[in-house]
Amino acid sequence: MPNSAAELIIANKELAFQVEQKEKLVTELAIANKKLQAALLEVIAVARQLGEMRDPYTAGHEKNVGDLAAEISAELCLDEHFQEVMRTSGYLHDIGKIIIPIEILAKPSKLSKEEYALVKNHVYASYQALGHINFPWQIARAALEHHERMDGSGYPNGLKGEEISMEGRILAVADVVEAITSHRPYRKGLGIEAALKEIERGSGKQYDTNVVNACIKLFKEKAYKIPESMSSI
Ligand SMILES: [Fe+2]
Repeated sequence: MPNSAAELIIANKELAFQVEQKEKLVTELAIANKKLQAALLEVIAVARQLGEMRDPYTAGHEKNVGDLAAEISAELCLDEHFQEVMRTSGYLHDIGKIIIPIEILAKPSKLSKEEYALVKNHVYASYQALGHINFPWQIARAALEHHERMDGSGYPNGLKGEEISMEGRILAVADVVEAITSHRPYRKGLGIEAALKEIERGSGKQYDTNVVNACIKLFKEKAYKIPESMSSI
């Protein structure tokens, strides 16, 4: 304990110095953290672009799905962290398509039963690939569940209702809307009206009603637009 005015001044100065050093460290850590986060986003973008280079027919799909999923989350008043989780989940959800031969991905006609079974396996491949990364979020689970449907008619596990994570339910709607609007090797893009009709038709059956309503509101009241992807050129 300081027992004179001079000692008190010295002790105060030391304390002020320590506080200043700590604040400096916190600032440096925040900067390093931001740089790491930026690097992680760049790695995610590279992973997405590699998938698009292999399958130019759906180029832009994952980016559009991620951005739409983030917007739907915002519309549902889910916090900013969740919105970014949804963006990343969308960017990476189809990464498992790497296991599907390009002849099947690009096939201009209907898939055989065996080919479709192989396509369905991409959700497991995405889950496995993303599960190896120690993301602090449910990205792998969202990828696994993006083809599940509320009435249990989806795949791979036929989950029902709230058995499906919120991430999976949002991704499902964003994925369907983007897929319907984009061109595919076997058909032309069907447009946003057809996409919104489909999710409205399936609301409460295949798709979560709240998610559907949020998505429709985005397009109809907030003039949200899916950017033109390479697949729709
Ligand atoms: Fe998929």
